[in-house]
Amino acid sequence: MARSRWSLRFARLPIRARLTIAFAGVMLAVLGAAGVFLYVQFRSDLDAQVDASLRVEVDNLKALVEAGPPGAVASSGAPFAHVYGENGQLVASTRRAEGSRLLSVREARRAVRQPERVARRTLPFGDVRIRAFPATAPGGRRIAVAVAGTLALRDHELARLRTLLLIAGPLALLLASIAGYELARAALLPVERMRAQAERITDRRLSERLPVPDPLDEIGALGRTLNVMLARVEAVLERERRLVSDASHELRTPLTTLRAEVDLALRGDRDPVELRAALESAAEEALRMTRLADDLLVLARADEGRLPLRPAPLVVRDMLEAAATRARAAAAMRERSIVIGGVALGMAVHADPDRTAQALDNLIANALSYGEGTVTLSSRAEDGLVELHVTDEGRGFPDHLLQRAFERFGRGAEARAGEPGSGLGLALVEAVATAQGGQVGARNLPEAGADVWMALPRVG
Ligand SMILES: Nc1ncnc2c1ncn2[C@@H]1O[C@H](COP(=O)(O)OP(=O)(O)OP(=O)(O)O)[C@@H](O)[C@H]1O
Ligand SMILES: [Mg+2]
Repeated sequence: MARSRWSLRFARLPIRARLTIAFAGVMLAVLGAAGVFLYVQFRSDLDAQVDASLRVEVDNLKALVEAGPPGAVASSGAPFAHVYGENGQLVASTRRAEGSRLLSVREARRAVRQPERVARRTLPFGDVRIRAFPATAPGGRRIAVAVAGTLALRDHELARLRTLLLIAGPLALLLASIAGYELARAALLPVERMRAQAERITDRRLSERLPVPDPLDEIGALGRTLNVMLARVEAVLERERRLVSDASHELRTPLTTLRAEVDLALRGDRDPVELRAALESAAEEALRMTRLADDLLVLARADEGRLPLRPAPLVVRDMLEAAATRARAAAAMRERSIVIGGVALGMAVHADPDRTAQALDNLIANALSYGEGTVTLSSRAEDGLVELHVTDEGRGFPDHLLQRAFERFGRGAEARAGEPGSGLGLALVEAVATAQGGQVGARNLPEAGADVWMALPRVG
């Protein structure tokens, strides 16, 4: 439905103004209705009073003329009263009502037979209400008694009420609107403060937070939620920044070595053996950088939730045996052995074969690089998941690293000094496990060595 020009214009006004207009509109309706109600009620009260006093006078006069001559009305005390004969002719009148007729001839004739009422009539002595009743004169003659009550007081009172309402109503409306505007302004002030502060918080000053006025009201809740969001954005940005700086740092080392090799090789009189050695070293550095770039790409994809996975049922025992076989040569070089520990027969997980194998290789490579003694591969079923454990008999993780072992570029000082690697191995294991609905964990064994595991969804 197309919105009208006015509603569009209204929607464009500031909330403050819209609230005030709406509030004033409602106030106008309420005050108007209350005013009309009050006026009508007051008027009907006044009318009832006029009618009641008229009725008393009529009763008095009726009793008078039915007992004595019509002329007795003159001394009845009623200000305006007439007695009419059967043909509508004026028979008697009070002094103040002389010279005019309360009822026309036709009305008077009707009044002889039935009660008659005139709500308002303008006579020389003012606006009046008239009541007339049939009566029977002492001789049996049918007559009508008419009494007029002045409406001056009633009209005056009503006019006074009207004036009061016309002054007080708009005044009340004005005051209520001003109060409404001020209330809306005060309520929206914290929002404006928060907006101004949000504008100041650029990506350079993300550590600042929005002012939270009253933590218990709705706007306070909004401020708190936005601040939590800001904290999260800051943390994510901080992580990204660290990642970029770590990645550049990691790339610098192999690049520097590569350049040194190439410079050396280019320096004039190299014999073929030296040249070959330089090229081999260069190729090794290039391989390291390729690995690093590949790992970063996998992590970035996993972050976006776009890691390509082709999950299939994998028998745990076969998978662990294949991993052990792959690592055997590397283990033999270090005079280490790899054994398969406790694995339930026929247990299987639902996972991508290549990624899972790569993750297992990372765990075994770590155990070989940083651990000592026998490397044991085992599995354990744990509510819906199967944990694949790789344990060794070395010194375990340095204490400070245990909590952050799966962080990107997190490496122990010894690893940094001694082993090639970039510190992405465990981060990749975590990415692969969580992308498949699993989890990871690491702990130091009480006796000796590290126990690192990845858990994957169990089949069946
Ligand atoms: N089995 C282990 N025993 C003791 N320390 C370990 C073990 N596995 C990992 N660590 C520590 O955790 C760090 C992080 O391991 P991670 O596999 O993530 O990186 P890396 O092995 O150093 O490098 P990359 O795997 O990328 O070549 C290691 O540098 C090492 O200090
Ligand atoms: Mg590693």
